[in-house]
Amino acid sequence: MLKLDGETKKLLTLNQVGQDLVTLGDLDMILKKIMAAIKEICASEGSSVLLLDEKNQELYFKEAAGEKGEEVKQIRIPLQESSSIAGWVAIHRQSLMVNEVEHDPRHSKEADKKSGFVTRSILASPVIWQEKVLGVIEAVNKKGRDFSEEDETFLNLLANQVAVALNTARLIGDLRNFFVHSVDLLIQLMDEHSPSQKGHSVRVARIATGMARELKLNQIEYENLFYAAYLHDIGKLKLPIATINDTLHPVLACRMLEPIRMFKDVIPIIRHHHEKFNGTGFPDRLAGKNIPLAARILSVAEDFDEQMALLEARNEKINFYQSFLSGFGSLYDPGLLDAFKKTTSTSFE
Ligand SMILES: [Fe+2]
Ligand SMILES: [Fe+2]
Repeated sequence: MLKLDGETKKLLTLNQVGQDLVTLGDLDMILKKIMAAIKEICASEGSSVLLLDEKNQELYFKEAAGEKGEEVKQIRIPLQESSSIAGWVAIHRQSLMVNEVEHDPRHSKEADKKSGFVTRSILASPVIWQEKVLGVIEAVNKKGRDFSEEDETFLNLLANQVAVALNTARLIGDLRNFFVHSVDLLIQLMDEHSPSQKGHSVRVARIATGMARELKLNQIEYENLFYAAYLHDIGKLKLPIATINDTLHPVLACRMLEPIRMFKDVIPIIRHHHEKFNGTGFPDRLAGKNIPLAARILSVAEDFDEQMALLEARNEKINFYQSFLSGFGSLYDPGLLDAFKKTTSTSFE
């Protein structure tokens, strides 16, 4: 079997962290892997990632490995060079090796007191992205001997990896935030465009996703249906408010959403949300299982909410509910009847 020397093992571990950055989507998971890599490469008892809370000018433990990891996470350290080694590192933007912590006045004794951890030695590196300090990583208590300059070089490399991970997570968070709020803005626009249909998209999404849960759609199918339900009538924005014949709206919606790559599988659901199981719908007069399952579900939720919203009296609603159920088998897929009843019956039976 191939025997690896210590240096090669460290490089392999570092390389593995690089791969984790690309393949693992979850920041917490990536940081945990980096914590483990610090302990392995620097041969330390503990390791931690501290992040800078800019508003309060404090460092806090985002992740801490070692026996007292959870207790350590409660601690907040003011960003002052004299109050902690991490604070000094963040302010001076350079790594620091302290092999005899008890003789160093910068060491935060409070952290040890709160955590019950006895710190003997610390090696700390700043995490910097585009000149901005994001935090500090630390290896705590070198096993057997003192931290070395080589440990310091490796920790600085790992700090770069943490900076990449944090920046990627921020970008993903910004994109998600933009996406969610853009969809929200479109719904607001639709509600303002047709006030008589206010709340329709949200109610349709609630019924359609309720049915999807009953039918045990997988996560991706569920999400596609969710977005299709939210945006199914967006094509109406392109039509004058009082258009009598609005049968164009599914096709218009598809044209509007076509450039959005992540809606590739959402668009067919929207296109066919007015098809009928017996082939009498629009725009393509598809029938039966030729209509995508999610579109069959959406068509039920669409018609049900649209017609129910016109009624006020309780008995009218109950009668309508019964007559709507009789449409399964002709207008709607009979295989969806149970899921529809389970999703809606408590309100109308
Ligand atoms: Fe529609
Ligand atoms: Fe609709």
